[in-house]
Amino acid sequence: MSKQKTAKRKLITATNPSSPIAEQFKTLRASIHFSSVDREYKSILVTSPEPESGKSTVSANLAICYAKQGNKTLLIDADMRKPTSHRTFGIPYNIGLSDMLTGNKIELQDVCHQTEIENLTILTSGTMVPNPNELLGSKKMGQLLQQFEGQFDQIIIDTPPILASSDALVLTPYVEGAIVVLRSYGTLKERAKVAVKQLQKTKVPILGTVLNRVKNNSSNYYYYQ
Ligand SMILES: Nc1ncnc2c1ncn2[C@@H]1O[C@H](COP(=O)(O)OP(=O)(O)O)[C@@H](O)[C@H]1O
Ligand SMILES: [Mg+2]
Repeated sequence: MSKQKTAKRKLITATNPSSPIAEQFKTLRASIHFSSVDREYKSILVTSPEPESGKSTVSANLAICYAKQGNKTLLIDADMRKPTSHRTFGIPYNIGLSDMLTGNKIELQDVCHQTEIENLTILTSGTMVPNPNELLGSKKMGQLLQQFEGQFDQIIIDTPPILASSDALVLTPYVEGAIVVLRSYGTLKERAKVAVKQLQKTKVPILGTVLNRVKNNSSNYYYYQ
């Protein structure tokens, strides 16, 4: 386990926690909490119809929100096709999730990274593999997530887009909820509908939808301190 000092990508929930955008993440976290009256949603995957909608940004900020609230949080980069968590948090891109799934004796504490944010642990996607889909849908993935649920209060899983591969869909049996990120401009309604339908077929509860990249609204500035 290594301790890292510098985040390479500025994450607003960490750098500017009282900004309107950071407040929105707190609201998202609260909405997830309130939608779980009867049960806890310990493991949540974040996906979108297409690339570049902000899945990794939303995953990282949501994970920071949970961590800052005192929850022991694990952020898993399960986008083995376009991993970014190592860059976002300035941590080495070496072994991670794929290695845990293919190797027998790799323990989480050997591959995960503590961040400078208290309570936040990152599991990078690991060595590039030719078969991410098989690995993510494997029984071992289910077992690992179960194990992590015993070790953490909250698990956020960043996944590839639904319309590009079925990686997010094969993970659904092992998670308790999903969040869909849509670009306010760029995501075609039809594509969003297809993606949500595919997700609904899996029966995973959709806990929320994030409309990302909304054009700046000046009234938001009211909330700046
Ligand atoms: N709301 C936003 N406003 C401006 N830039 C954003 C926003 N959300 C994401 N980005 C930027 O867009 C790019 C793609 O975001 P990312 O989270 O990596 O998307 P994905 O994981 O869905 O491919 C990144 O450079 C990120 O910093
Ligand atoms: Mg991403």
